[in-house]
Amino acid sequence: MGMLDGHVALLTGAAGGIGLAAARALMADGARVMLADIDGVRLGDAASALGEGAAATPLDVTSRQSWKAAVDATVSRFGSLTILVNSAGISEPADIETLGDDAWDRHLAINLSGVVYGMQAAAPAMKASGKPCAIVNVASMLSMRPGAPFVAYCASKAGMVMASKSAALHFANSGIPIRVNTVHPGAIRTPMFERYLAMVDDRAAAEASFAANHPMGRVGEADEVAQAILFLASPRSSFTTGAELPVDGAGHIRD
Ligand SMILES: NC(=O)c1ccc[n+]([C@@H]2O[C@H](COP(=O)([O-])OP(=O)(O)OC[C@H]3O[C@@H](n4cnc5c(N)ncnc54)[C@H](O)[C@@H]3O)[C@@H](O)[C@H]2O)c1
Repeated sequence: MGMLDGHVALLTGAAGGIGLAAARALMADGARVMLADIDGVRLGDAASALGEGAAATPLDVTSRQSWKAAVDATVSRFGSLTILVNSAGISEPADIETLGDDAWDRHLAINLSGVVYGMQAAAPAMKASGKPCAIVNVASMLSMRPGAPFVAYCASKAGMVMASKSAALHFANSGIPIRVNTVHPGAIRTPMFERYLAMVDDRAAAEASFAANHPMGRVGEADEVAQAILFLASPRSSFTTGAELPVDGAGHIRD
């Protein structure tokens, strides 16, 4: 028996990286998974690789209409929706002097509004499932401590964390069995991390400098974040809601 037998998860940003690793972890514990992403090509490959029990639906998290279609597709394919993992996100470096309007708007639309829209779209289907449900939102170490070159990223993720806590409180106050928690990765080896390394000439030096931000002396792996997501999505965390779980080798408390 898997801990998540009978559960159905919708995961965003699931064409790769942390979202796909989380889908694998939830499936290994018995959940059926709907992978959602704006990148339709990688999304189809990811769902095929996961096989039976996985399906894919295109999703632009910035569109409420797209969210409705993704939730409907999940319920129509698997019969219910009990877990939502919001992993879709972007990170484009810019400090307060270099930040442009487009980049600011993009971060807020995807990293903040995208998560709020998702919680709103999923809640009615979760309530209709009649089961204890969980939402896990992927924030960042950079929502717990600032990074000068990431002003839009930090602000959008911090806003998303407060929206998550507010939602958690609302559901708890209302007796609605939906828990909402956030995970806070440090630097994790995914396509997003690879894009950062590709911006510099000396990859080894860049990776060493990322590793140095984490007192454990290394960057993390996507599955290490996936295991934290699995915990927060599962009944093992049944009395935990509105919480922040760092997965960053002590990065958020470094000197
Ligand atoms: N990798 C890291 O070092 C790191 C660190 C802290 C937090 N995070 C967060 O973890 C989450 C996952 O990141 P990752 O490292 O797996 O990166 P990634 O780039 O591999 O994955 C992000 C996914 O989001 C998708 N996406 C982007 N815009 C979208 C939209 N409008 N609608 C739907 N999907 C969209 C992309 O296509 C991509 O597949 C992100 O929210 C990121 O901010 C990552």
